[in-house]
Amino acid sequence: MSDSDLPGDWVALHEAAWAAGWSIDGASAGYRAGWTYTATTHDRRQRRAFATASAMRAWAAGGYVGLPAPYYDHHGITIYHGDCQAILPWLTSTGAAVVSDVPYGRVLRSSRNGAHGNCAIANDDDTTVRDAIIAWATERRIPAVIFGSPAVPRPAAITPARVLIWDKGEHVGMGDLTWPWKPNYEEIYILGDGYQGRRTSSVLRYNAIAGTVALAHGRTHPTEKPVGLMQALITKCPGTLIIDPTMGTGATLVAAKNLGRCAIGIELDERYCEQAAQRLAQEVLDFDEAA
Ligand SMILES: C[S@@+](CC[C@H](N)C(=O)[O-])C[C@H]1O[C@@H](n2cnc3c(N)ncnc32)[C@H](O)[C@@H]1O
Repeated sequence: MSDSDLPGDWVALHEAAWAAGWSIDGASAGYRAGWTYTATTHDRRQRRAFATASAMRAWAAGGYVGLPAPYYDHHGITIYHGDCQAILPWLTSTGAAVVSDVPYGRVLRSSRNGAHGNCAIANDDDTTVRDAIIAWATERRIPAVIFGSPAVPRPAAITPARVLIWDKGEHVGMGDLTWPWKPNYEEIYILGDGYQGRRTSSVLRYNAIAGTVALAHGRTHPTEKPVGLMQALITKCPGTLIIDPTMGTGATLVAAKNLGRCAIGIELDERYCEQAAQRLAQEVLDFDEAA
């Protein structure tokens, strides 16, 4: 990365970020403490804060500088409210694995829409977010477990041997009602290496969560995942830190917490950040048993 790739006015950038309430790593502390920005230190600090090309892309995409203040941060579980494409480049990936129920790219129309307003999934009209998360994990060489729909083309790097099936149970599956089979399964793509543990079936049977059950627990997400399913996946991941860049109401974080792992979740929609934070704070009991 050359100096010409860096933002033009670093001091103005800092000021704007502070005004917007963003915390900035490293160099910002010096700026707050009143360090003088000579041409030399200015360049050095620019390089340190924008250490990677992906961080530069984040700046270009969303104007984020460093990590935002956490929405929730307790006992090794952290939630950030924002766009994962802008936040991921600033996260540590040492000892991490991604486990993420991404927007599938199929424009979900939830049957819960009528009763609970617009439950469409943000960024579900294509696979841009999914592919950005996979690119980030691949760049950092960390394993990634990514959900997907059989109705959408798989990520380029995925071969059939790298696909698990989530059997959602007999009580779900609408699809084409003239077709005598219902789509009651989803796919889980396994990227990268280092997975561990006892050999178990590549078909994971966990009942999908009914809308009424989620609502009874104060949650409104149209695609909430069973915590048991997320635990079965996380337990095979190496490392101590689980990252879910599209966490919804936080099933992955609850599962990680139950397994004694640290976790970071990111979510664009503040309603879901709030529901996840409440859930984590309440030490939620897992109500979704394996089928
Ligand atoms: C399939 S849902 C995850 C549901 C979650 N597994 C649960 O149990 O509640 C995907 C989530 O990604 C969020 N999302 C979409 N685009 C995003 C982005 N760019 N950054 C962060 N979150 C995003 C959506 O708001 C949605 O809640």
